[in-house]
Amino acid sequence: MRWFIVCAFLVNIHVSAIAATSIVKQAQQPLIKGGALPVLPAAAYLSPLHYMKTCPNLEAIIHQKLNAWVKRDYTLAPAIIRLHFHDCAVRGCDASILLNHRGSERAAEASKTLRGFELINDIKTEVEKQCPKTVSCADILTAAARDATVLAGGPFWEVPFGRKDGRISIAREADSVPQGHENITSLLNYFDKLGLTFVDLVVLSGSHTIGRTSCYAIKQRLYNFNGTRKPDPSMNLNYVKLLRKQCGLDTNYVNLDVTTPRTFDVAYYRNLGKRMGILSTDQLLYSDVRTSGLVNLMATQAEFFTDQFAVSMTKLGNANVLVGKIRVKSD
Ligand code: HEM
Ligand SMILES: *[C@@H]1O[C@H](CO)[C@@H](O)[C@H](O)[C@H]1NC(C)=O
Ligand SMILES: *[C@@H]1O[C@H](CO)[C@@H](O)[C@H](O)[C@H]1NC(C)=O
Repeated sequence: MRWFIVCAFLVNIHVSAIAATSIVKQAQQPLIKGGALPVLPAAAYLSPLHYMKTCPNLEAIIHQKLNAWVKRDYTLAPAIIRLHFHDCAVRGCDASILLNHRGSERAAEASKTLRGFELINDIKTEVEKQCPKTVSCADILTAAARDATVLAGGPFWEVPFGRKDGRISIAREADSVPQGHENITSLLNYFDKLGLTFVDLVVLSGSHTIGRTSCYAIKQRLYNFNGTRKPDPSMNLNYVKLLRKQCGLDTNYVNLDVTTPRTFDVAYYRNLGKRMGILSTDQLLYSDVRTSGLVNLMATQAEFFTDQFAVSMTKLGNANVLVGKIRVKSD
């Protein structure tokens, strides 16, 4: 498999989609000499020590770059966390979201407001200087999301490494990522395919304790909920008024957490209790019996939230990863 020198481009690749699919299928099953050993889930082949010998400076590079960029623009921290989610949600954490060609995930409608690509490229460029053809873009993005969380005031966790980059990236698939209009059943189904549970859904939605949404994503809630030409009745009316004021244009941005927008805390869950969740999918976590208990727990147990956030992010980072050696010849 040829290496990606730049995360955004496929270098020298002339593989048809079908051939590429079979490469990916092979890659999902690590090659085990003798073939008699039990096949573990792909994520079991990831390790925090993966680059210990081949790129010992990796995490320091990522950390230093994140620091520098986020110092200049704090909105990049939530942007990178979201970019990682959108990567892992489609074909697993394989950096397919970064590929920048016609019809790629990055070109999808659902990717329109994703940001942070330049930051990841800057890291990749430095990593290529120090450890050429060694580190995957998927690993870089995963560790960057962890560092972004820490910079925003969230927990630290150990990131296992060894993900391979995918080379298939299809816009249509990226448009299946939840947009905020879904019901809880479909969110639970979506997360289930990533190996994530209702706990992960509630906890990872807590990322919305920082960052912003475009007004475009919430305008139906504000003006024409479910075809009624009225705001969503599950939303606090004063909050509706505030948002209508801030949302003069679809391209405006508003904070996801109305009370403490820059702090990684449990205010997001408390807001839901006050009917001040900004996305319909946020507010539904509070009203649906399958998730409401956890929302109430998070609202009062900050430590539980931060601890579980680290656990759920680790699971997200392991979702459908590609690992193992790639065959050069078929036999
Ligand atoms: C449960 C389903 C989810 C839905 C429906 C959802 C939906 C959204 C939407 C609509 C936005 C605003 C996009 C815009 O600018 O228009 C957003 C932003 C964001 N989402 Fe989610 N999201 C979900 C899960 C997650 C997960 C699992 C994570 C992270 C692990 C995450 C992290 C973020 C972050 C950090 C932002 C702010 C981005 C920024 O400020 O640039 N979301 N989400
Ligand atoms: C949830 O959404 C899915 C997909 O749009 C739909 O098929 C299903 O009927 C909805 N379920 C409920 C309970 O509204
Ligand atoms: C949306 O409208 C449909 C049809 O009028 C109705 O059955 C459904 O309950 C409404 N959904 C919500 C969440 O209000």
